[in-house]
Amino acid sequence: MPSNDHQKLRQAVNRPLVLVGMMGAGKTHVGRLLAAALDLPFHDMDGLIEEKAGMSIPEIFGTYGEEKFRDAESNTLRELLEQGPSIVSTGGGVILRSENLQRIKNGSVMIWLDAPIEILWERLKDNKTRPLLHTADPKGTLMQLLQTRKEFYEQAHVHCKIGGEAAESVLANLINILSETLNSDTFQGN
Ligand code: S3P
Repeated sequence: MPSNDHQKLRQAVNRPLVLVGMMGAGKTHVGRLLAAALDLPFHDMDGLIEEKAGMSIPEIFGTYGEEKFRDAESNTLRELLEQGPSIVSTGGGVILRSENLQRIKNGSVMIWLDAPIEILWERLKDNKTRPLLHTADPKGTLMQLLQTRKEFYEQAHVHCKIGGEAAESVLANLINILSETLNSDTFQGN
């Protein structure tokens, strides 16, 4: 049962809350917790794309290539943003297409889960499910990706910095920031 604070925040949510940030930032895990706390539907974009394709993300990249994956990503985002309030966790590269970034900025509350590179690397180094990191120097690749994407993540309405804390602490912090942002008179959401 949501607490009073959660209920007040829920009432202020009139559009999707979209989590963006690098792979390994915890968008799916924190997104699920946020959805439960606010009693909102949860959508994991990568999961939906995998379900539709009937194959995993590495298989989609391997069979059809990144551009086709990006097409599916853009279509899935458009569909989800038409559905009213929910929590949406995106794949880290969704902001690469400017149409996606504009759509997120104009049609949702864009939340950047911002984790430092060492934490991202710690979580990703033994994980083989990220095709973009299947390179000779995956840590270097990760750093480069962050470097080129940062300017897009920085356009988020809400900036939630993450250290090495548990997802529950990230959630509590995020709820505080969201409450301040959405209950402020000046939040326009664009
Ligand atoms: C990608 C991130 C992945 C997934 C795909 C591409 C990226 O999602 O969409 O491997 O470009 O950063 P997560 O951010 O959930 O790992």
